[in-house]
Amino acid sequence: MGDWDVLRDQCAACTGCSLAATRQNVVFGVGVTDAEVLLVGEGPGANEDRQGEPFVGAAGQLLDRMLAGVGFSRHHNVYIANIVKCRPPQNRDPLPEEQDACIGWLRRQTALLRPRIIVCLGRVAACRLIDPAFKVTRQHGQFVCKNGVWMMGTLHPAALLRNPVQKADAFRDLVALRDKVQEVCTHTALWWGEMNEPNRP
Ligand code: URA
Ligand code: SF4
Repeated sequence: MGDWDVLRDQCAACTGCSLAATRQNVVFGVGVTDAEVLLVGEGPGANEDRQGEPFVGAAGQLLDRMLAGVGFSRHHNVYIANIVKCRPPQNRDPLPEEQDACIGWLRRQTALLRPRIIVCLGRVAACRLIDPAFKVTRQHGQFVCKNGVWMMGTLHPAALLRNPVQKADAFRDLVALRDKVQEVCTHTALWWGEMNEPNRP
């Protein structure tokens, strides 16, 4: 079994915090394991808990559409995970102690993936991974380099569903992400190049 399968199986059996008691499925992560871009959300919602995959509900569908608009997809060139792997009841924010209990799984995922860029989807992930005082409204779209990894926070897709006027801001952040990929990544941009190759007879 590969490292990713071992980690996924260990995570699936985790009882490290009280969210284990109410989950249907551990939502480990999805995407390609050679991705240079890691996207991090907050925690599973009801649909994710049922299906065991991140961002499969309405917010996830919006996320997929927006990512596709700038050449990203969970099937080809990004990895998507959450700060906590089990659903907080009533979709409340994960508590600090739940985040503390769970963050080791994300750290181990990050160690295997070794992304060049990490995008935090919303306040919970940005505060946890970039800066405890992160203000999404003011700091979204700004890249900072931490330990050789470029980090950026953007609006959470669920926030965009509630407040669609912010979609333009979020899309600008994704364009900035594409630019950063072109600057610091290697095979993600290569994949775009292959996509854009004119078909030869
Ligand atoms: N919101 C998140 O933060 N993560 C998911 O996986 C789904 C919705
Ligand atoms: Fe374990 Fe994380 Fe689930 Fe808590 S949320 S039980 S730490 S996998």
